[in-house]
Amino acid sequence: MSKRRKLAAGNWKMNGLSAELSNLDELILSNPNPACDVLICPPATLLERMSRRTAGSAFALGGQDCHVAVSGAYTGDVSANMLADAGAEYVILGHSERRAAYGESDTLVQSKAVAAHAAGLVAIICVGETLEQRERGETLDVIGGQIEGSMPRGGDCVEVVVAYEPVWAIGTGRIPTLAQIAEVHDFLRADLTGAFGSNAEEIRLLYGGSVKPSNAGEIFGVPNVDGALVGGASLNPSDFSGIVSALEAVP
Ligand code: 13P
Repeated sequence: MSKRRKLAAGNWKMNGLSAELSNLDELILSNPNPACDVLICPPATLLERMSRRTAGSAFALGGQDCHVAVSGAYTGDVSANMLADAGAEYVILGHSERRAAYGESDTLVQSKAVAAHAAGLVAIICVGETLEQRERGETLDVIGGQIEGSMPRGGDCVEVVVAYEPVWAIGTGRIPTLAQIAEVHDFLRADLTGAFGSNAEEIRLLYGGSVKPSNAGEIFGVPNVDGALVGGASLNPSDFSGIVSALEAVP
């Protein structure tokens, strides 16, 4: 049986004001003792206040990006140390929205992962193909290249979570077939094992893209899927609780 503890992660993206703090309270109340790890990545502005609410609960918090530097003249940016200081234990890196909108390269994502590790954060490194790349049959090449370029090297890799998020499945309601998810997750496990040896067994592989309570159970039944990175449905406490329940139900 796998030693990997399942992880349900919510990415709130650029959503959430003070009024939404009550959503976190509701989630914690509905899931007092979850049988999997549960993580919320809110906007940085809510982290510190949310950390007061998650204290003493099973919930963890994460950032959605970080700068490579610890501090300095980088107007508008947030460092990994700042996220940790505000209560984060994880940080999402290389999300396709950042790769697309801000031109984030694999090399930059890798540098951010090293910075996250130095700050004591677990990096969630996102990879995934566009629809055009899938239609051209390039999915595994693209993902292999992203892993090769974005993963930190050496002993740091064990501190990492990898999220497979097909760009065309994010926020669209479309999800790959279970066979397509299995193909990519099996490839990721083999690819990571090739690069990092038996340490790769400890790396959790999340699926992300239009995960809902209605499809979570079947996705979590796919081998090598260790949980989900959830966008839209994580904003609704009852939807996210449904996804947590589906993950808890996996033997
Ligand atoms: P949706 O769940 O809204 O498709 O978003 C997925 C995602 O981008 C999580 O990081």
